[in-house]
Amino acid sequence: MKPFPKNFLWGAAISSYQTEGNNFASDWWQWEQQPGNIKDGSVSSSACDFWNQYETYLDYAKQAGMNALRISIEWARIQPEQNQWSQQALDHYKKIIGAMKQRGLEPIVTLWHFTLPLWFAKQNGWLNENAQEYFLQYVKRVYETLKNGVRYWITLNEPSVYLFNGFITGSWPPGKKLALHQAVRIRNKLIRIHKAAYHILKNQNTLVSIAANLSWDTGASQYKNINRLLEWLPPRGNDWAMLHATQRECDFIGLNYYFHNTIRANVLHPFASVTSSHKDPSRNSDIGWEIAPQGIYEVSKKLYKTFHKPIMITENGLADAKDEKRAQFIRDHVKNIAQAIEKNIPVIGYLHWSLMDNFEWALGKTPRFGLIEMDYNTMTAHPRQSLWEYGTLIRQYINIAS
Ligand code: FCB
Repeated sequence: MKPFPKNFLWGAAISSYQTEGNNFASDWWQWEQQPGNIKDGSVSSSACDFWNQYETYLDYAKQAGMNALRISIEWARIQPEQNQWSQQALDHYKKIIGAMKQRGLEPIVTLWHFTLPLWFAKQNGWLNENAQEYFLQYVKRVYETLKNGVRYWITLNEPSVYLFNGFITGSWPPGKKLALHQAVRIRNKLIRIHKAAYHILKNQNTLVSIAANLSWDTGASQYKNINRLLEWLPPRGNDWAMLHATQRECDFIGLNYYFHNTIRANVLHPFASVTSSHKDPSRNSDIGWEIAPQGIYEVSKKLYKTFHKPIMITENGLADAKDEKRAQFIRDHVKNIAQAIEKNIPVIGYLHWSLMDNFEWALGKTPRFGLIEMDYNTMTAHPRQSLWEYGTLIRQYINIAS
């Protein structure tokens, strides 16, 4: 086994809306109430109650031997109304981060993970001409309160996934379909917003990035150039273009890697051209994403070759309600990261999605991504076997770390 560096970040990732519960001032809460928007009809309501029971979850993370956790801040909690700021909410986040540090968990803090305050969404959200100013006011407040405790900042999570679901398929708020023009306008704005936020967050102790969604794409297409073109389209839900545009303002690259895509593109059907399920169902997760550990190596290699920056795996995981594949999935992906490190590709952390089952957006509570199982009837958390197996793996690697 190739030793991982001693300071390698071993952990998990969650987001505020999916886990905290009761985020009633967010656009998603309203979206969930409309029948048909959530596939299984569930609502986030108290989600995992992370807001109140965070110590229980942090204890499990610590017991498993993790030394890092990625969380996010809910803008709507900090600014529930346009003219109302909640110092109380900010202080609560400070407490959560303090509790993480007490347990030796390095915080990786995301400022925007898909959800918007309702007041902002009602004013056209990112399309609002003051969007940048509004978001940066929020970023400044968060930074002022949390700056002493946080080294790693992620400004935006998977902008292209948001644009794809919100403006192309319409399956997420604001529910627009084929609004390609708006998607491109927002992408360009988010690029500017990331750059401006970077300069607020950047100091000699901080490292700032975005979390980019990138799959491992291989082409079954005879048109190789189409594959290349697809990388640049925000509708595909991949963030290559975002990274190209923001690379100077990324101290490292946050990589969310989930699956393999076979591209069967042709000029007429670029959007219907990607398959992410394998013919053999045993090679897919519960929601049909093809499990492909080699991809984490391939994508990291390509990222390093392109941008020459350290890479943090900010998400990687699978829906697996029976917990049959998760432990092996982690071992296989970590093995591929070890291979990357061996080849001098500087991967600095692995954050598994997710610490616990949570509200999986338009798919509701059915997909089970957690190392910890949530019993939503009793609102109790039950560690799965894979949590402890991940812990065993972490300890093995930590013991031989250089
Ligand atoms: C990623 C999202 C995360 C979660 C996982 C399964 O695209 O960032 O919130 O939904 O997928």
